Amino acid sequence: MVAFIALAMLFLINDRVAASMDIIQELKAKLESSRRKRQLPIIAPGFDPALQRIDVSGRHEFVPPAQGDQRGPCPGLNALANHNYLPHNGVATIRQFTEATNKVFGMGLDISLFLSVYGAIFDGNLEKWSIGGPSDGVKLAAFLSQPQGISYSHNHYEGDGSPTRGDLYLCGEAYSLQLCQFKQLYFMQNDTKEANYTIPIIRLFEEIRLNHSISTNPFFFYGFISGFGVANGAHHFIYRFFANKSAEFPEGKLDRYVLKTFYAISGDDNNLIYTPGHERIPENWYRRAFDDEYTLLLFFGDLIATGLVNPQTLALGGNTGTVNSFTGVNVADLTGGVYNAKTLFEGNNLACFLVQSIQMVVPSFFKGPLIALSSVLLHLFKGINGSGLTLDNCPQLTRLNESVYSIYPGYTKYANGTYPTFGNCTC
Ligand code: HEM
Repeated sequence: MVAFIALAMLFLINDRVAASMDIIQELKAKLESSRRKRQLPIIAPGFDPALQRIDVSGRHEFVPPAQGDQRGPCPGLNALANHNYLPHNGVATIRQFTEATNKVFGMGLDISLFLSVYGAIFDGNLEKWSIGGPSDGVKLAAFLSQPQGISYSHNHYEGDGSPTRGDLYLCGEAYSLQLCQFKQLYFMQNDTKEANYTIPIIRLFEEIRLNHSISTNPFFFYGFISGFGVANGAHHFIYRFFANKSAEFPEGKLDRYVLKTFYAISGDDNNLIYTPGHERIPENWYRRAFDDEYTLLLFFGDLIATGLVNPQTLALGGNTGTVNSFTGVNVADLTGGVYNAKTLFEGNNLACFLVQSIQMVVPSFFKGPLIALSSVLLHLFKGINGSGLTLDNCPQLTRLNESVYSIYPGYTKYANGTYPTFGNCTC
């Protein structure tokens, strides 16, 4: 009986992997043909109002989530579901995530596919996942644990030091907006016509957020994917995706109204109100230009440029059980000397390490079939013209020595997405 169940399970998983691989191959072909025309951020993008305007009427009119609909830590995905660009229940397939984020926000197909597949592997059932918590719409075989959705994806998707979401240990959950964090960002610009939350502003805000986490959260942990990639990346998404594009501001202008709308905030400055799950796309809002999609190349460019201004964003590691005890991960020990803190940021090593570490940390049950799936991800990076992001010559990493994480209670201690006790959820 046990053997039969195990076999059935393997077939089920292999089926899902095969289906996901088909979608990935198809989207990869699209990606090749839509290869960016504007590879370097030197030339200003164009602006075509007819093409870039995002429809928020008719079937794309804002409809708030109803009982049972999933909403979670990502304001971009919440807004897509509220406007029916993603299924309104907040559960979607790899294809739906990839296509909606590309169509509405101009997220490069390479990033969107990468994020969608990663979500399906770690927080879903290899086929679909929830933008909030566990859902009946996302089941694995009955005897496997229920996928938790990205609301409960601490340390593999969601991480400490996020822009407006609290640290899990401090706030007890990490998917709701903390108003005081939002206010920190909001009041970094005055209420003038010139207000624009550009990347330099976002970088300052990120510095405040990281320093706050290090100085108040004894369990602060900043991993490579959840910290450097996602929490850090999400800071950049605020301007890169939410900013409203126009002929005058082809790269976008993110004013107070647009920021509040995407973050489900209403009310005036003395009385800002957060309504969870009510993230929306503003009226008269224009996405990134079609020749200016935000690809992995631009994304890595942003992460590195921010790291030069604020090296803390490049420092993987965490507190060791007390506040202000930040200790960096010894990258050489972690990778058996294949990379070190310096070489990790040279050439294409960052991209290599990103994909290699995902391959190595897939949940052990899925390891066999998922190695195949994630190896397709490797191909995504191939041939990104002129980007230097080819993975052809990656250093050979055969294992990750995860014991280096044992000094970080924020990595080892939490269970089921919660800590037994919580700290102080303030700013
Ligand atoms: C499939 C694609 C995507 C996935 C899997 C994803 C996932 C996530 C996750 C897990 C977080 C929480 C990070 C944390 O708190 O540590 C997050 C935050 C965020 N995401 Fe997304 N996201 C996606 C697409 C987008 C898009 C298209 C946008 C913008 C239009 C966006 C904007 C943001 C922002 C601004 C945050 C920061 C929230 C805050 O703390 O203020 N994301 N996303």
